[in-house]
Amino acid sequence: MKAVINKKVVSLDSVDLDKNLLEYLREELDLIGAKNGCGIGVCGACTVLIDNEPKRSCILKVKDIIGKEVLTIEGMANPDGTLHPLQQAFVDAGAIQCGFCTPGMVLSAHAFLLKNPHPTRAEARQAIKGNLCRCTGYQQIIDAILTAAEHYR
Ligand code: FES
Ligand code: FES
Repeated sequence: MKAVINKKVVSLDSVDLDKNLLEYLREELDLIGAKNGCGIGVCGACTVLIDNEPKRSCILKVKDIIGKEVLTIEGMANPDGTLHPLQQAFVDAGAIQCGFCTPGMVLSAHAFLLKNPHPTRAEARQAIKGNLCRCTGYQQIIDAILTAAEHYR
């Protein structure tokens, strides 16, 4: 059984299939960008994209990604290490404080902009409603999403 994780084919061992996906990503694959904020599907800190849809990895199992394409925050930057324009927009807008929510926030915003590259402020706000941030007050995050949208057009 295989999955594609950050554009690389990964063989999934049958002994891992019932493992928690977030723990598998963090502990087996060392992809520690996804965070465990609540562990019960509420906060969005563990968000990864599965076939370009934001999903909460803390409530999924490894078997849920069989045959699917997974994107974590580690797969967002360019191969030369430069940040994706959406990541750069977060930096430039000051949309990051402690950074705990940021990987999930960026991935939710990325999935949204792939579908809607001409968002209104209200639509951008709606798109990240499942991602909680205790630091920023959300305004700079919305600013970053709207700024980055031009790169998706
Ligand atoms: S850690 Fe998964 S939703 Fe909070
Ligand atoms: S920047 Fe701290 S939780 Fe969002």
